[in-house]
Amino acid sequence: MERSFNSVTRPISAQLLFLLITSFLIWPCTEAAAASAAGELLKGFEATPNPSIPFFQPLLNDSSSKFSFGFLRVNSTQLALAVLHVPSSEPLWLANPTTLSRWSDRTKVFFNGSLVISDPRTGMFWSTETQGDKLVLLNNSNLQIQKGLDNSNNVNVPTVLWQSFDFPTNTLVETQNFTSTMTLLSSNGLYSMRLGNDFIGLYAKFDSGSDQIYWKHKALQAKAQIIEGNGPIHVQVDPDGWLGMYQNGTTPVDIESFNSFQRSLDGLLMVRLEPDGNLKAYYWSGSSWVLDYVAIRETCELPSPCGSYGLCTPGSGCSCLDNSTELSSGECSSSGPYSNDMCSDPKTQKNDIKVLRRGGVEVPFKEWMRYETTPSLEECENACGNNCSCYGAVYNNASGFCYILDYPIQTLLGTGDDSKVGYFKIKEGANKKKINSGLGVGVGLLGGAVLCLIGAVGFGSYKIWRNKKRVNRMLEEETGGVMSGPYKDLGSASFRSIEMCSSGHR
Ligand SMILES: *[C@@H]1O[C@H](CO)[C@@H](O)[C@H](O)[C@H]1NC(C)=O
Ligand SMILES: *[C@@H]1O[C@H](CO)[C@@H](O)[C@H](O)[C@H]1NC(C)=O
Ligand SMILES: *[C@@H]1O[C@H](CO)[C@@H](O)[C@H](O)[C@H]1NC(C)=O
Ligand SMILES: *[C@@H]1O[C@H](CO)[C@@H](O)[C@H](O)[C@H]1NC(C)=O
Ligand SMILES: *[C@@H]1O[C@H](CO)[C@@H](O)[C@H](O)[C@H]1NC(C)=O
Ligand SMILES: *[C@@H]1O[C@H](CO)[C@@H](O)[C@H](O)[C@H]1NC(C)=O
Ligand SMILES: *[C@@H]1O[C@H](CO)[C@@H](O)[C@H](O)[C@H]1NC(C)=O
Ligand SMILES: *[C@@H]1O[C@H](CO)[C@@H](O)[C@H](O)[C@H]1NC(C)=O
Ligand SMILES: *[C@@H]1O[C@H](CO)[C@@H](O)[C@H](O)[C@H]1NC(C)=O
Repeated sequence: MERSFNSVTRPISAQLLFLLITSFLIWPCTEAAAASAAGELLKGFEATPNPSIPFFQPLLNDSSSKFSFGFLRVNSTQLALAVLHVPSSEPLWLANPTTLSRWSDRTKVFFNGSLVISDPRTGMFWSTETQGDKLVLLNNSNLQIQKGLDNSNNVNVPTVLWQSFDFPTNTLVETQNFTSTMTLLSSNGLYSMRLGNDFIGLYAKFDSGSDQIYWKHKALQAKAQIIEGNGPIHVQVDPDGWLGMYQNGTTPVDIESFNSFQRSLDGLLMVRLEPDGNLKAYYWSGSSWVLDYVAIRETCELPSPCGSYGLCTPGSGCSCLDNSTELSSGECSSSGPYSNDMCSDPKTQKNDIKVLRRGGVEVPFKEWMRYETTPSLEECENACGNNCSCYGAVYNNASGFCYILDYPIQTLLGTGDDSKVGYFKIKEGANKKKINSGLGVGVGLLGGAVLCLIGAVGFGSYKIWRNKKRVNRMLEEETGGVMSGPYKDLGSASFRSIEMCSSGHR
């Protein structure tokens, strides 16, 4: 009793000081949005980032105060427009993930019918290109630009000209509609989710060529059929703990249930495409995000869990295809990766290319991999060896299947079966060069770094922004949070900013 009394009173001056500092930090933002009604901004609204705000500057809150739209500081000097889940400080949506502005008083965001970011110095510019009346943040985190009231059929509902739900980044929240024209993109830009005519597909972009599908969930069509000619399918995260796939009716053609299925939990539910390529669902328990669903349960079935030229063996984890090299800092780094860019270079000689052979390996997600049937291992190797765009091949002696790898070598699966033999091209003379596993780099890696830094900066400044939650969050960091269990190694990649960075750069 005495002890707790002491602990409350003793640091009172520190608390006062903290309050002063926080109210100073928050003051400019309350003023910025004071001009409009709760939940909406009108034409003429204008704001610039405040230099003293470390993490997030709210411009518009929803009616429930669960969500906030505002400036998110990225990489300490850059700015993204974001919708945040306030209790967790987790960004759910970014307006401009690939065209960040500067956190500077010359950067301006205004609403003149369009929501516009303008940056006179860099000329960076983002706009919704609409002619609306107001900007509204709904209580499901959807940011809308609305126009007037539509009285045409006596319903007083405004027309929606634009909404953030139509441009998801890496996250879907409950009630959000994901259609066949949309794409979810992981923060590192490597993985995407799209809909086919009767399935949900996850795709990897390992090079600039076509995407490789690595996970496919086909509609079960138990309660309703997909009928050709009735339009494309769409999916929606149901607050009752499932992902529903629909065609044009209200009866789902498929239900993918989460752990919280029909448990009627209060917390927000979201689905996110993670930087490791997994699709996961989480619900907000009030103090942390609890893992509710994972699409890919086995680490080795992820698209590239051990990086390029890696080998994932169920039960024993990552090693390297080339067993004379060691896996160091998550990379197999003794030889240079083969690239079919060499095809277009006339100076490339055949002897620039070395070959690595390894028994007991299989291609991952082989249902979706291209294969030929060849009578022998030698012919399988030749089919790849003679084709400059081929990166490698895996031969199954029992079936005669010759799987062709037509993208940069990623992680192969280890099996005890030595009749399955892999043939992989390596670039000669690049022995000391480090392998860069994320080959879709470019924008992808940038995007990853950006979100990492959002995470890192976010966590750092979070302590200042909402001191109240600090203890909880730190406890969570220490104990591994609730996102552990069998998926601990994977779950850790999502919300821990630091690990998110390492997996983003892998
Ligand atoms: C939005 O909510 C935050 C706290 O979550 C508060 O600091 C801020 O003043 C609010 N802003 C507006 C515009 O209501
Ligand atoms: C809003 O401002 C942008 C940038 O200045 C301009 O291009 C656009 O025409 C304006 N829109 C309206 C509806 O005034
Ligand atoms: C969100 O707003 C709608 C009306 O706009 C209301 O029916 C619903 O109950 C609200 N939901 C929450 C969680 O506040
Ligand atoms: C979701 O999108 C589909 C396809 O555009 C549309 O038919 C359906 O009405 C939408 N559902 C909701 C709840 O917005
Ligand atoms: C679905 O679309 C088809 C063809 O457009 C139409 O005939 C059918 O009535 C629609 N079903 C529903 C439930 O809207
Ligand atoms: C490395 O691989 C080669 C060929 O697959 C095999 O002969 C050799 O025993 C392996 N060495 C070790 C240390 O596993
Ligand atoms: C070479 O490989 C590419 C990619 O695997 C394939 O599309 C192409 O048809 C192959 N060319 C020949 C001549 O086999
Ligand atoms: C491959 O299959 C052939 C015949 O199907 C057999 O003779 C040979 O021993 C097999 N090789 C291996 C390594 O299993
Ligand atoms: C973040 O900042 C560092 C140092 O200023 C810079 O090197 C890096 O490129 C930045 N990253 C992004 C994604 O802008």
